[in-house]
Amino acid sequence: MRRTRVIEALNSKTAKEHMVVKGWVRTRRDAKGFSFLEINDGSCLKNLQVIVDETVPAHASLRAVTTGAAVAVEGTLVASPGKGQQWEMRATDVRLIGATEAETYPLQKKRHTDEFLRTIAHLRPRTNKYGALFRIRSESAFAVHQFFRDRGFYYLHTPIITGSDCEGAGAMFRVTTLSPILQEGQPGAPACADDFFGKEASLTVSGQLEAELFACALGSVYTFGPTFRAENSNTPRHAAEFWMIEPEMAFADLEDDMDLGEALVKSLVTHVLKHCATDLELFARFVDPDLMANLEVIANATYVRLSYGEAIEILQGAGKTFEFPIAYGADLQTEHERYLTEEYCQKPVIVYNYPKEIKSFYMRVNDDGRTVAAMDLLVPRVGELIGGSQREERLEVLQQRMRECGLKQEDYWWYLDIRRFGTVPHAGFGLGFERFLMMVTGVTNIRDVIPFPRTPKHLEF
Ligand code: 4AD
Ligand code: MG
Repeated sequence: MRRTRVIEALNSKTAKEHMVVKGWVRTRRDAKGFSFLEINDGSCLKNLQVIVDETVPAHASLRAVTTGAAVAVEGTLVASPGKGQQWEMRATDVRLIGATEAETYPLQKKRHTDEFLRTIAHLRPRTNKYGALFRIRSESAFAVHQFFRDRGFYYLHTPIITGSDCEGAGAMFRVTTLSPILQEGQPGAPACADDFFGKEASLTVSGQLEAELFACALGSVYTFGPTFRAENSNTPRHAAEFWMIEPEMAFADLEDDMDLGEALVKSLVTHVLKHCATDLELFARFVDPDLMANLEVIANATYVRLSYGEAIEILQGAGKTFEFPIAYGADLQTEHERYLTEEYCQKPVIVYNYPKEIKSFYMRVNDDGRTVAAMDLLVPRVGELIGGSQREERLEVLQQRMRECGLKQEDYWWYLDIRRFGTVPHAGFGLGFERFLMMVTGVTNIRDVIPFPRTPKHLEF
């Protein structure tokens, strides 16, 4: 018989004569004449309450049915006389599928700290909070694809292993099959030419450069995949492996880019509010009491747009002492970003036209010659959610920028080719998927919104 998922049982319109539910026991309580089981199968936040009468033969073997055990329950779905649920199940049989070592099972019916749960990341999805979180993550990913599909973007799979450094930041993980004990440069060590690809290879920091090539063929594309940064930044907002959504549009400028970023964020939040209401409620109750009000603002407000110069003036006039001093030419730090979005504007802010010195080589140089057509979308609590730009489509200007940034043009011959053959204005951005999930749930540490976080000195699971 097909198993009925708990969510289907709880949303049932009618009682059911006969059904089978399979899941994990959250609790068992024994009363006079019967036992209660709370069953969760991950299909929703709520448990299904099961009543096992002592007249049911299986009642005698319920001792092994402890918290964490996997069971199959057969029985009927009936209206619940109890408070808090419409339906409950009356068991005719309970079968133990997988017992649990009761003494060592780490998830007991009490609140555990996020720090503790991180050490048992293989089991934390069985808690209410992390079950809800990863359902929201899944639904959000679906919403990303729906958003772009509705707008005629094609989904592009850009490579994970790369021979180029998109951000020019140099914080990349090397990919090699060479023996680790024979490091290059040591006597007898093989050169890059002997390595698998015959040249230096790394994990990608961004799919942007490849997305640009495809945007200049298919029109509008997006990538959505894992990206890797080897910077040793042990912050609550940085992970060494994270997922990024990167749209790229041909025949588009910076304003189109800002419009798309704002529309994407609003659309994703609206989707989650609509489709994950029960799971979100948990975060509003236990994680961030202001969550719903904040999400309504993010979904509905018109975002503020400030040039970098205006943002610096606002920060200088803030009358606050920042840890990092603020001056024209300096990159904005998280504290500055949060001041702008949380305190000054109290809604999302897009900062654009940054000095070229603090941005990547591929960003389009503005007519003033000093700034580039870059934009960062900042949101309360998280700071930078999106970073993007209009791309430099003029061959000579791009070559000049590459020289200034010390990049070898022969490594990017294919990127430059796009500027030789039918070059067009184009623009795109990257949205950090984990940062989005932090914003949407109020969770403050990136380690708690990705199934198995990779951060400096941490590679478990
Ligand atoms: O601003 P970034 O570095 O931009 C790029 O990589 C561009 N190539 C994107 C593009 O234009 N196609 O990163 C984009 C976003 C950031 O705004 C942030 O949300 C997220 O990616 N991000 C990180 N998230 C988690 N951990 C990290 N170490 C991150 N670095 C960036
Ligand atoms: Mg950035």
